[in-house]
Amino acid sequence: MNTKRFENKVAIVTGASRGIGQGIALAFAREGAHVVSVDIGDQTETGTKAKALGAKFNSYTEDFGKLTQKGAADLIAKIIADAGRVDILVNNAGIIRRAPIVDHPEADWNALLQINLSAPFFLTQAVAKWWVTGGREQADRENGGRAPAPRLKVVNIASMLSFQGGIFVPGYTAAKSGIAGITKAFANELAKERCNFNAIAPGYVATENTRPLREDEKRAESILARIPEARWATPEDIAEPILFLASSAADYMNGTIMNVDGGWLAR
Ligand SMILES: NC(=O)c1ccc[n+]([C@@H]2O[C@H](COP(=O)([O-])OP(=O)(O)OC[C@H]3O[C@@H](n4cnc5c(N)ncnc54)[C@H](O)[C@@H]3O)[C@@H](O)[C@H]2O)c1
Repeated sequence: MNTKRFENKVAIVTGASRGIGQGIALAFAREGAHVVSVDIGDQTETGTKAKALGAKFNSYTEDFGKLTQKGAADLIAKIIADAGRVDILVNNAGIIRRAPIVDHPEADWNALLQINLSAPFFLTQAVAKWWVTGGREQADRENGGRAPAPRLKVVNIASMLSFQGGIFVPGYTAAKSGIAGITKAFANELAKERCNFNAIAPGYVATENTRPLREDEKRAESILARIPEARWATPEDIAEPILFLASSAADYMNGTIMNVDGGWLAR
């Protein structure tokens, strides 16, 4: 009996070379998906681990700092040509730059908005366009009328800073607040096309992104003191709720920003 939830599904995960993205890619691999990784960095480790789990794995090297609308459309067209289709897009790749707000450099502001907001917007546009201009019909044909009907699933990675202002990270906050906004905007226009656009807002996860916080004894202590779960999240804590949003169990969820924060926002 087939018990893997994402057998025959193609899942694109951006920023899958390490951290949360690698956790997401491997969780999809474990559940039978064909994993398509897109990253600026070395994706060999993720690929080796995904294949060891029995998954198909393709990788594409892309710098989202330079990704244009056309570049995103070309990338998605290439992925679909290679993998045959796309069922899931997880916009996970992201950077963070810290500086006091009055000194926040223009270059950092621009990079944050480009990598954390424009790139996910262009990629989502490209997969949604493919879906409404023939992808859905193709998925229906390949599905052969079985229930549930195929849907396109986009899951964005938001942040606590989609809700809060943060300290020293105004560009990051702006981009992650923007991610929450476009998640809802895509849902409003396209939910009726059998697409789901949702986001996960992770709390504090132990990755490269948060290493400087964990190395700053005072910040680390004050962050930990506020987390009701009393520990930092692992990439695995974040991955499983993403699989839920990407699954048919969440077909009636659209435009949701789901907190996976160990209770941080409840405090
Ligand atoms: N760690 C946390 O506490 C936390 C909390 C909330 C949200 N997030 C978000 O989760 C996502 C993953 O972060 P992480 O914590 O795993 O960090 P990370 O730095 O370990 O991973 C980021 C990934 O994005 C890729 N990437 C960076 N710049 C890129 C570019 N220009 N083009 C293509 N790929 C690029 C990196 O190579 C890496 O694989 C990010 O969107 C981040 O903002 C993280």
